[in-house]
Amino acid sequence: MPATAAPAADPTPRAALHRLLRRMPKAELHIHIEGSLEPELIFALAARNGVPLAYPSVQALRAAYAFSDLQSFLDIYYAGASVLQTEADFHDLAWAYLERAAADRVVHAEIFFDPQTHTDRGVPMAAVITGLARACRRAEAELGLSARLILCFLRHLSEEAAFATLEAALPLREHFIGVGLDSSERGHPPEKFERVFARARELGLHGVAHAGEEGPPAYIESALDRLQVERIDHGVRCLESPALVQRLAARRMPLTVCPLSNVKLCVFGSMAEHNLPALLAAGLCATVNSDDPAYFGGYLNDNLVAAFDALPQLGRDQAYALAKNSFEASFATAADRARWTAQLDAAFAAE
Ligand code: ADE
Ligand code: ZN
Repeated sequence: MPATAAPAADPTPRAALHRLLRRMPKAELHIHIEGSLEPELIFALAARNGVPLAYPSVQALRAAYAFSDLQSFLDIYYAGASVLQTEADFHDLAWAYLERAAADRVVHAEIFFDPQTHTDRGVPMAAVITGLARACRRAEAELGLSARLILCFLRHLSEEAAFATLEAALPLREHFIGVGLDSSERGHPPEKFERVFARARELGLHGVAHAGEEGPPAYIESALDRLQVERIDHGVRCLESPALVQRLAARRMPLTVCPLSNVKLCVFGSMAEHNLPALLAAGLCATVNSDDPAYFGGYLNDNLVAAFDALPQLGRDQAYALAKNSFEASFATAADRARWTAQLDAAFAAE
């Protein structure tokens, strides 16, 4: 460029906002590791393990990712997970996610895994947990990203199966920090798992649950009252109950919101209709997360950019609030949360 050339035009406010969203440090609190299994890795692991696939190519598999609701997604998601068999597979899966997360400036991740999806196929619990835990340790050492695991119970299965899963995981207790509840929400209210969450609490585990994704506000109430959870995963239907919103806001009860997931699973007709701005305006501790990024079209920064592009009520203040909430809502130590929040303040001061 000649020395006399005019400097590049100032970035548009939109470009500056995108840069801030991408560069700000953040925590991811709602990511199913099996939902980060990209089609390319499904094919690689199928070849490695000799697993036959129902689709002839990566493109054909990706083309099948058109969902009408949560169940239509879960059917494909559980089928995809069948290629995961060995400790190395679980390590490789989690490592791929963690590298991707670090590129999105995720400094802390609390990662869900669904052991029953694997143990019910004969995969040893130890292969699942030690493989994931090895990737988490590696992320801390090589990426400076702190990563923790949350064991989720599949709510379409029985309470008895959830108890057996928790007991089977106990020899590996040091590798996970909490329990969660996921899978088909409708018809499987939180109270079905009241006793297993009480047992997990006795063991010093944190508790979170999916509620109010497709299910009604009453499921969110039940997750609070009967499971005594510390975060609600999704929770977007809380706005149907003003009394519940007041309760969630007063307690600063975090909601781990997943915008692209909600659009792909038809919880909202379009991103422009998403209620994230209303959740924030109501004073709720909302965070943005990717849920199942390999299936829903994007990782954490893709979710932020898609939401901010479609929703003009979201700007710099909301970007700051979402990242700050993500640290506040995490199960990290107070010292780590304060350090990341200071890094967030520095990122905003620099822009
Ligand atoms: N498992 C993976 N993604 C999920 C979601 N969005 N809701 C419930 N269970 C899930
Ligand atoms: Zn989820």
